[in-house]
Amino acid sequence: MTTKIVIDTDPGIDDAMAILFALKAPEIELMGLTTIYGNVHTTLATQNALRLVEFAGRPDIPVAHGADLPLIVPLKSVAAEVHGDDGFGNTNQPTPQGRPLAKPAAQYIVETVMANPTEITLVCLGPLTNLALALALEPRLVDAVAGVVLMGGAATVGGNINPAAEANVHKDPHAADVVFTADWPLTMVGLDVTHKAIMHSDFLADLKNATATTQFLDSISHFYMDFYRRVQPALDGMPMHDPSTIAYVINPSLFITRPAPVRVITDGIAAGMTLPDFHQGWASPNGWTDIPLTNICVDVDVAGLLNLYQKTITRPD
Ligand code: RIB
Ligand code: CA
Repeated sequence: MTTKIVIDTDPGIDDAMAILFALKAPEIELMGLTTIYGNVHTTLATQNALRLVEFAGRPDIPVAHGADLPLIVPLKSVAAEVHGDDGFGNTNQPTPQGRPLAKPAAQYIVETVMANPTEITLVCLGPLTNLALALALEPRLVDAVAGVVLMGGAATVGGNINPAAEANVHKDPHAADVVFTADWPLTMVGLDVTHKAIMHSDFLADLKNATATTQFLDSISHFYMDFYRRVQPALDGMPMHDPSTIAYVINPSLFITRPAPVRVITDGIAAGMTLPDFHQGWASPNGWTDIPLTNICVDVDVAGLLNLYQKTITRPD
């Protein structure tokens, strides 16, 4: 049986890795893409999402344009230094032929999930604005989803946008707090594991000539690899942030998880910090006993994850 997913995304080089990974995975049925600002502005995210489904020969997969701005905080910047001005490492990709759906992302999410009760897993690879808007439109979403798997946050390690916060949560902390405190089956794939799931340059080079898909990913990844080489030389490669969510959907046993309620700090110098209450089992009267548990990924079988990625992404186009 396949897992049906909708991916909310800000493509983005590692988003492209994740989307093409999902499209190649026989275990996954990709129902649609919804877009969000983050690595690029939402208008470009939508163009890039259309470009990816066309590149993959799947122009039938719908793309819905999402929120252009966070719920409350201003959008200060996108991540051109990490992903290039075009989101694909300045590789001058062709303009897509297709157009997004007429309906906005939040409405698409609600309609798709409600039409397929308990069947759809929402996989979120960017700031969580669309998800918070979808919940506001249809609170019954919490019971209708099969699950939510998000790349974001840092429960046991520091942030990447500043010492406190991971980029996706930092860009819309209010939306993230809505998502973390909603009563749905939520898995957090944060920096705790994605800063361990490193792809080294020789691994990328070995994949390069397998298929047109791996050649495309190789061509866009050098910019991303160079960024991490400059700012986090100790990693000695690029973190597989967004592809780790797809690995989780395919094989959750690659990950070690700890359940805990999570709140998001929404202002001050730690805005965007994900704060888990790992002590909630002590049932302190001051603990967050009223907040549903998030399934937090705290460790990963890196070799197993890379092996799954390699096996899947090199399947024939
Ligand atoms: O912090 C890493 C996350 O921010 C990834 O989703 C990356 O694509 C960016 O959106
Ligand atoms: Ca992303």
